[in-house]
Amino acid sequence: MKTIVVYSTRTGNTKKVAEAIAAALPPGTPCQPLADEPDLTAYDCVFLGFWVDRGTANQEAQDVIRTLKNDHICLFATLGANPKSEHAASSLKQAEALLPDGKSADGTFICQGAVDPKVIEMMYKKFPAGSPHGRSPERDALHAEAAKHPDAADLSQAAAFARDVYRRITEG
Ligand SMILES: Cc1cc2nc3c(=O)[nH]c(=O)nc-3n(C[C@H](O)[C@H](O)[C@H](O)COP(=O)(O)O)c2cc1C
Repeated sequence: MKTIVVYSTRTGNTKKVAEAIAAALPPGTPCQPLADEPDLTAYDCVFLGFWVDRGTANQEAQDVIRTLKNDHICLFATLGANPKSEHAASSLKQAEALLPDGKSADGTFICQGAVDPKVIEMMYKKFPAGSPHGRSPERDALHAEAAKHPDAADLSQAAAFARDVYRRITEG
């Protein structure tokens, strides 16, 4: 089964996860940024990674997700929020809903990723303290936790996800 891993990244978190996923797939599985515009039509299975931007896939990833017609599609992502949160689940759902009609993901994976300190600073300036995106002890704690990710445990969970979904697909 011809498989490729592609990803969109701004600050490198999603690239780390993509590389862990590729390393868990058969040797030689390519791992490329979407910015390289790889021809995805040549593959039976595409693992596509994005970073969460305002509750869905970032624009570069969205543009590709909308075109995927491969037999097997797996989506993975990184986000600043808690990966077990409703926001994380709905961000994956929003991204999956972009797939062409009748297509769904064979599997999804999401983990936390450090938020660019410049973006945090900008949000704290833009939104009043205490508002959902403004500075608060909870917000500071969230960003402090996110700053540690993706960590070794995230990468090993991403690898396990890739191995499991690949086995499920190839064993029918
Ligand atoms: C413009 C912008 C919007 C973002 N929106 C969200 C969001 O809606 N929810 C969230 O949990 N994280 C959000 N984040 C955080 C990123 O998804 C997170 O830091 C991600 O790991 C970045 O991945 P990258 O290093 O591959 O670019 C946002 C970051 C930026 C820069």
